[in-house]
Amino acid sequence: SKPPILIARAIFPDVITKLEEHFEVDTNQADEIWPKAKLIDRLRGKHGVFTTSSERIDAEVLDACPQLKIVANMAVGYNNFDIDAMTARGVLATNAPDVLTETTADFGFALLMATARRVTESEHFLRAGKWEKWSYDMFAGSDIHGATLGIIGMGRIGQGIARRGAHGFGMKVVYHNRSRLDAATEAECKASYVSKEELLRTADHVVLVVPYSAASHHTIGAAELAQMKPTATLVNIARGGIVDDAALAQALRDRRIAAAGLDVFEGEPKVHPDLLTVPNVVLTPHIASATVPTRRAMGHLAADNLIGFLVHGRPLTPLNPAVLAAK
Ligand code: GLV
Ligand code: GLV
Repeated sequence: SKPPILIARAIFPDVITKLEEHFEVDTNQADEIWPKAKLIDRLRGKHGVFTTSSERIDAEVLDACPQLKIVANMAVGYNNFDIDAMTARGVLATNAPDVLTETTADFGFALLMATARRVTESEHFLRAGKWEKWSYDMFAGSDIHGATLGIIGMGRIGQGIARRGAHGFGMKVVYHNRSRLDAATEAECKASYVSKEELLRTADHVVLVVPYSAASHHTIGAAELAQMKPTATLVNIARGGIVDDAALAQALRDRRIAAAGLDVFEGEPKVHPDLLTVPNVVLTPHIASATVPTRRAMGHLAADNLIGFLVHGRPLTPLNPAVLAAK
């Protein structure tokens, strides 16, 4: 008989069909957000689970579901996983890297440009019927071309944004990262390594692409915002919690910085109420990887991790390969 698995959220029908060739599949095509007790209830006895960022898989869930062998996330970020708890129980974790890199870098640039050039703020003005005349400073923003782009977090997505900025827009690119890139990658991205302090002090546009962890919690708070240029913009396409949203809303209201573009929020899908009332922020609902081909590729990669591991013993993108070595 086929091993039982759970797909915890709605997904492309052909991803389900592919999984049904190998597994007894329980689904959630109604796309309800299950409270933890309901998730555990549906997960009991299953050998694998297809998750998205909205399912938190921690020790309590793992202990309630001892049959579970693999948790496959349809996201590159995996702060919804307690990886140590999984490794300790011999449960494999996989994510969905690489397939979303260029799409997400595109969106980082879209948000940067919308923020610097006040695209959504001016659209709201127009839709509200307030456009009565041209004026010399109406929605005057800041330039992208020739400006200094500061990237915090220089993984694959950060490098994609650096290449776009340097090669496409003639930007000067500086970056900060836990470790410095090798010289060849720095040259390809035309990016120079600087301290976080220098980056905040010199960048015209700051883009955040660091994974969320206890160490990256509030990478940008009131103190960091105070170091930025008053004309600077800040873009977060990483995770909620990397930025102190309350401090950012205050800095935007006080014009401590010019503007921000946010795709992710602390406690999303809730958004800090002050961010909803300041005009100089572009807000999008966690869609940086959302193109049809990329979301399809992410769904298929998560499915292929389940098949690769449970059927063939070879997952494609394992996060805790120590579990494989221990088998
Ligand atoms: C999206 O946020 C992802 O981590 O893939
Ligand atoms: C993050 O994992 C990235 O690919 O930048």
